Amino acid sequence: MFPRGRKLLLGVSGGISAYKSCDLLRRLQDEGFIVDVVPTEASLNFVGKATWEALSGRKVITDFWSSVETVPHIAMAKENDLIVIAPTTADLIAKLAAGRADDLLTNIVLASTATKFLVPAMHPEMWSNPATVDNVETLKRRGFIVIEPDLGRMTGSDYGVGRYPETSKIISEIYANSNLISDLKGFKIIVTAGGTREPIDPVRFIGNRSSGKQGFALAAAAAARGAQVHLITANTNLPVIDGVTTTNVETAQQMSKVLEVEFPHADALIMSAAIADAKVKNYRENKISKDMLETLELESNQDILAMLAKSKRTNQVIVGFAAETVSDLSKLELNAVSKLNSKSMDLIYVNDVSNGAVFGSDNTKGLIIDESENVTKVPEISKETLSEILLDKLASKLVLSNG
Ligand code: CTP
Repeated sequence: MFPRGRKLLLGVSGGISAYKSCDLLRRLQDEGFIVDVVPTEASLNFVGKATWEALSGRKVITDFWSSVETVPHIAMAKENDLIVIAPTTADLIAKLAAGRADDLLTNIVLASTATKFLVPAMHPEMWSNPATVDNVETLKRRGFIVIEPDLGRMTGSDYGVGRYPETSKIISEIYANSNLISDLKGFKIIVTAGGTREPIDPVRFIGNRSSGKQGFALAAAAAARGAQVHLITANTNLPVIDGVTTTNVETAQQMSKVLEVEFPHADALIMSAAIADAKVKNYRENKISKDMLETLELESNQDILAMLAKSKRTNQVIVGFAAETVSDLSKLELNAVSKLNSKSMDLIYVNDVSNGAVFGSDNTKGLIIDESENVTKVPEISKETLSEILLDKLASKLVLSNG
């Protein structure tokens, strides 16, 4: 699965209260969500596509027949863990209850296993009509979460139950009924990923085998937990993560320059990138002959993490990574503790990469050690799962150090 951050799909059906979903979209963005809007054809009579594109900052597809080659209903069904349809009209409720799929939104709903929230809004007579009541019951039974409409004035002079609820009520219902974690909301986290390359000449470089998968998984998971994430990535070939600011670098020096500017404004730094330990002393503008490779003069790269740790504020947290070719656990632990202490890290994850294990793989195995030298043994798990475990620890450190 590709990392995806904190994503939500907002469906909008054709009721006058569609304009209220503009505010809902804004408030969802304040909560750190990247929102894709899927309006029904009828809803465009109330709020146009341009408004949704401008507010969401994303391309809006309004019908089933555009972008057919990308199979948008399946892609959007898979990409979003949450679907909120606001307003949901009586007609859309009836369609969903019948399992119909005759436009983009209904196709997505039918294809998706996401948690689905409906925000019905209609005249009281329509809401209390036995057909609607039955349809709502059917949908609830099938797992849809129905946020009850409010009591109040309708369009015109009517009064009753059927009003689009307050935005704050919708958002608190979303939190209350989903397993969203928002413990990193309000924190700015920098994640480095990939491996730096130090050029020898225009053709060759010194590099390493880091794929960047762990860093990308961490960035996506931190964004999904509400953090503002800046991913600084070196030589990776992974899809961008929605909502994560991404900077591409090549060398350790470029990585260092970006971090020097960004680290003072961050709450945490997760250094999962593999920084090349050495670079050539004299870069050659022209390709050198292979005989010269034997006498290449190297010099050490600056240790970026150690340098940043010196200027670390007490409320900043640094997580380091180490890769060892040591299968003996106690030796692995000793090496990791020594790195943790010598570089003033708050947390380190060390993995045994003997025989090409871990690099490029979806799984990882190793030890997590904190600054009090508490050790957590990590059996072979996915890089996504490790990300969640590390972020649990990071979140409690951030909360503690930020009082
Ligand atoms: N690191 C860094 N700058 C470097 C080298 C490493 O910031 N020039 C960071 C890495 O991003 C990682 C941690 O320091 O978070 C790894 O420390 P390191 O001592 O390099 O461990 P290993 O990668 O295991 O390498 P080695 O054993 O060769 O020292």
